[in-house]
This record gives sequence, C-alpha cells and structure tokens, in this order.
Amino acid sequence: MKDQQFKRTLITTALPYANGPVHIGHLAGVYVPADIYARYLRLRGRDCLLIGGSDEHGVPIALKAKAEGCSPQEVVDRYHNIIKKSFEGLGISFDIYSRTTSEMHRQTASEFFRKLYEKGEFVEQTSEQYYDEEAKQFLADRYITGTCPHCSNERAYGDQCEACGTSLNATDLINPRSAISGSAPVLRETKHWYLPLDKHEAFLKEWILEGHKEWKSNVYGQCKSWLDMGLQPRAVSRDLDWGIPVPVEGAEGKVLYVWFDAPIGYISNTKELCPETWETWWKSEDTRLLHFIGKDNIVFHCIVFPAMLRAEGSFILPENVPANEFLNLEGDKISTSRNWAVWLHEYLEEFPGKQDVLRYVLTANAPETKDNDFTWRDFQARNNNELVAIFGNFVNRALVLTHKYFEGVVPSRGELTDYDRQTIEEFAAVKATLEHQLETFHFREALKEAMNLARIGNKYLADTEPWKLAKTDMPRVASILNLALQITANLAIAFEPFLPFSATKLMAMLSVEAPFGWDRLGSTDLLPEGHRLGTPELLFEKLEDNVIEAQIQKLQATKKANEQAAHRAEPIAAPIDFEDFLKLDIRVGTVLECEKVPKADKLLRFRIDDGLGGRTIVSGIAKHYQPEELVGKQVCFIANLPPRKLKGIDSEGMILSAEGADGALKVVMPSADVAPGSQVK
Ligand code: 2FM
Ligand code: ZN
Repeated sequence: MKDQQFKRTLITTALPYANGPVHIGHLAGVYVPADIYARYLRLRGRDCLLIGGSDEHGVPIALKAKAEGCSPQEVVDRYHNIIKKSFEGLGISFDIYSRTTSEMHRQTASEFFRKLYEKGEFVEQTSEQYYDEEAKQFLADRYITGTCPHCSNERAYGDQCEACGTSLNATDLINPRSAISGSAPVLRETKHWYLPLDKHEAFLKEWILEGHKEWKSNVYGQCKSWLDMGLQPRAVSRDLDWGIPVPVEGAEGKVLYVWFDAPIGYISNTKELCPETWETWWKSEDTRLLHFIGKDNIVFHCIVFPAMLRAEGSFILPENVPANEFLNLEGDKISTSRNWAVWLHEYLEEFPGKQDVLRYVLTANAPETKDNDFTWRDFQARNNNELVAIFGNFVNRALVLTHKYFEGVVPSRGELTDYDRQTIEEFAAVKATLEHQLETFHFREALKEAMNLARIGNKYLADTEPWKLAKTDMPRVASILNLALQITANLAIAFEPFLPFSATKLMAMLSVEAPFGWDRLGSTDLLPEGHRLGTPELLFEKLEDNVIEAQIQKLQATKKANEQAAHRAEPIAAPIDFEDFLKLDIRVGTVLECEKVPKADKLLRFRIDDGLGGRTIVSGIAKHYQPEELVGKQVCFIANLPPRKLKGIDSEGMILSAEGADGALKVVMPSADVAPGSQVK
C-alpha cells in the first residue's frame, strides 16, 4: 500500500524500562525523532497517534527492588513518574503515556497470550535451568556470572562475555554463581511456552527481505542476518515473581517474559486512549503502523512482535521501523549503572527554558546511520553558532528593524526585485525538500533544511542592508522587511516539529494566534500588511563557558566516583596454594604481527615470537589498542593453557593486561627487553 492510501498513522515509541530515568541516548534514538514525526503529521492535518509508556516488568526491576529493600511496584512508580514528567517537560507530545502495570495492560496481554495458547501457536518445552537454592528462585541468564569458556574472563554473564563479546548460554559458564545470593546454582527442570519463530520464518523472509527493501539499511541488515542464521523457538514465559502471571493452568510461579508483554503495551495503551476505536488503529489495513526504537530493539520489533501479531491473526504489521543507532556521551557508551549519562529530568532543571536547545542538538547529531557522540562543547557550539547566530539573529533583526522603522506593523511590499524573486524561489523550495526528508525519516537532514530557511533570511538581510537604505528609500526598506517577516513566519511553521517551544514563542512575537498549518509553508503572504507584531524577545541565548564547564566537571566527578568504586568493588580473590601458582607458566614474547579480527570488534589476533617457533594468541583488547601500537612490543602471556577457538582462530594462550579503574586495559610489559620465551617468576 502506498503512503497516500493510508488514512492514519499509529506511531509507537519503545517503552523505556522504569528502572531509571531517561537520558539523552533514549531521546536521540527514539523520542525526539518520533515526536518530530508526529508533530509534522499533525501539522499536515493527518490523523495520527503517538503512543508511549513505561516498561515495568522484567528481572532488572525485580532485582533493583530487592537491592533497595522495597517492592518492584515502588521502583516502577518512582521512575514512571519521573520519566512521564520529564517527557512532558521536553514537549514529547504523546497522546498517551501509560504503563505496563496498568490493569488494561494486564488484561490485554493475558488475552493475547490466551488466544495464542488456544490457537496452539505455542510449543511447550521442559528444560533444565539454573536455580538458586538459597534465594529459592530460577535465575535469569543475566544474573548468573562465571568464567567465560572462551577467554577465561571471570566476570562473564550467563548471556554474554563482555570481555570477548561471545554470546553464551548460562550452562556454558565455568564455575557459575548466582548474582543474587552468590551461591552456586543448581540445574532444575522447568516448563515454558515457546513461540516457534521457525514456523514464521518463511513468511518473515518474504515480508521483510522482499517486501520491505525500503527499510533503513541498519534495520534491514540486522533482520537479514537474523533470518539468514535461521530462527529458533523463543520462550515467552519466565520463572519469576514479578510480571503478568501466565494465564493458563499449571503455570504457577511463571510470568510472561517482559519482551512478550512489553510490545503488547502499545496495544493496551491505544485501547486505554481510544476504548471505542482502538481496533481501527490496530486492525485496519489503511492504518500505517510505525515503531520508533533503538537498534538494540530491532529483532523484537521486526521479527518477534510481528510473529506474535501474525500468530494472533487479527492485527496489522508495522509498515516501517526506523530504528536509530546509539548516542555516546563524551566518547563513552552511555550507561545507567555507571551514571554516565545526561539525564533528562536533570537537564530540564539545570537548563530551564532550553528544551529546544537539547532537541536541536540531539536532532542535528542524531545517530541515524551510525553511533554518534554527544559532547558538551558541541552542545555549546551548536547553540551559539547555529541557534543564536543564524536562527535567533535573523528573527531578531527582522523584528527589531520593523519596530524601529514601522512601529511594529508589517509594512507594505512594493515591486519585487530580481533578487527578491530569487530569494522567494529559494525559500519556497524548502518545503518539498523538508517534506521528503521528514517522510523518509531523515530528521538530521530535515533539520538542516529548516535551518536553511533561516540562512536564506539572514543572507537576504545581509545582502539588502535595509538599515543603510532607511534615509533614502523607505518604500524599499518596507518591501525588504515585509519579505523578511514572511520568512520569519515561515520559520514558525518549519520549526514547529523540531523546536516547538521556539515556534510558539515566535508566533507570540509575531502576534499570530493559531498555527499556520504546514500547507502554507513557502508562502509570502502569511502576515498581512498592517498586522501589528508582538514584542521582540531573544529566541535563544548564548551559552557561556562556565555553564558548559560545570557540566563537564559533573561528568568528570562521575568518572572519578566510578573509578573509586571499581577499586573498592574488586576484593582480593580467595587464597591459593603456592603449588597452584607454580602451575602457571607465564612467558614473555615479542609481538611480530597484530591485527583486528574481522567481525569481532573486541578481538585482536597476535603472532608472537615465544622463543619456541611462534604462536598465535587472540586477545579481547581491540577497544584499547590500535594493532600497530603493539607490534615490536614485548608482552606477557600464559603459555600453558590449552588452545581455544575464538572466532575460528586457535588461540594459544592469554595475554596479560591490567585493568585501569576506568575499565581501560593496559598490556603488561617487562621493564626492559628480555629474550622471547623468558619465564615470568
Ligand atoms: O530496551 C528497552 O528499553 C525496552 N524496555 C524496550 C521495550 S519496547 C516495547 F516492546 F515495549
Ligand atoms: Zn570471554
């Protein structure tokens, strides 16, 4: 179905976990772009809904509650309120922002499960899973730690080793421990319901790989690699005491897996908002369903949820899933647990009235095609050099000059010069480009195009210099300012989706009551002759160095606190026998070659002169060194470990590194060169 044939657009935004506030990464990836799109559609008079809500189930929330000695409901109440309020503060124009602990959601998700159950869409399977006998509960993969069988990292999780990047099953871990009680878990049999994704594979292949080649390449590419690997059944229930109970007999102590219930939250929230008409939004072929998400959610929204919807049978599938990549902060991955983030609720408190500055910077620097970095210096530069110097400056000049020469009344436009006509053509062309960029979810480019309009206005005033003509040619000054004011009014339309607070402020300065509507973008008759303008104010203010320094210092303090905590958190390991130490054969070798391992962003492959004919070692330090830095250097390695395969390469040993408090790995080297093969004693 072509876009024009859709009668309405249902926009969903990933439901953030209510175990922490939202940060700039969430905003840049999901909520700001979704809000821009919803505002744009509304401005065009299109029927659309923007659906949001908090994701309030899942193991991390249950564990946070345990750690804090309160109930999971208390945890999610606290964060749901913070998140909801902060979204409002930033002007994210949700039609509804609800939560997955609502009664409506419990009912909707339970009914959904039951329908699939009754249709025989699940497979029941019994398997052995780790159980913590002290805590008396089954353990989710993330809550089992142990030694990675591939790289010997002792702090690998049951689903992944973060040192070597390998995906793991909890049963792969050597010496597994429960993260809840610290005890060694035991294997116990448990029954779960699985969604047989393999059954939907042929359909999904056809639907995505053939039917949705227009999806963003990062989304399409991820789907393709999942589909090429072949889909496996996925468990949709968990042994847990926090979540929606599995609504069938014999399921005591089991809840719906959080990733089963969360996307159904989009449906529940639509139902809560439109109890009478929700089905039109979810079951009508002329509704266009769009999921705005971050890249870590692609598989759930493009493969798992569509398979669930199709298994249910009466729902439409998403038309597009414009997922973004990640935003980093000052060069480091944003992390809730390390407090490495700019939190929205704090930003709103510390930068009152500057919602649009954040919206602008996050859109101008949105991680649409690759991960991007947010820095406070860039934030300052974009505010000062773009918002203030281009947009604000133009608007201010147009208004102040009109007040100065025409007492704040829109002057009349005389005959147009060729240059006027050229300017009009240029700004009339902005509409089509802007629409194209917005319709194809290229919000960065769209914002650039909106900014272009301000640039056109600035250039027009700089080239025509009305202030110089004031003594000699007032009719021409009137004409120039009339056109400049029309451009200003156009800015209020073009920027409404991106910078709604500034658009509103601009309308007040122009004394325009109701928004113009998107269709009038490009028009030269938005403000009639004789129309009295409001009072000019500054749209944006310069950000001084001390304000930015304070933010940078705040982050530095966080880094320091994390470093100290990392040292405190690493107690000395249990004592070992001297004989055990003697078993380790640690040698020095000289690095002959070093290169990145393809398709493994953490691994480096070393060829080492070990004094014994050479050996290959694969080490998980690619994030910390450029390969060429290490060639010719001497390293220490454990020489008597059995070889292990890493990404298909036989690794014959382990290179020793020291982990700095900031997590950076530094290879251990002898203080002076020694013969390759020398023993470390
Ligand atoms: O990744 C996350 O933060 C999830 N809470 C997103 C859920 S999206 C949807 F399925 F609700
Ligand atoms: Zn590992």
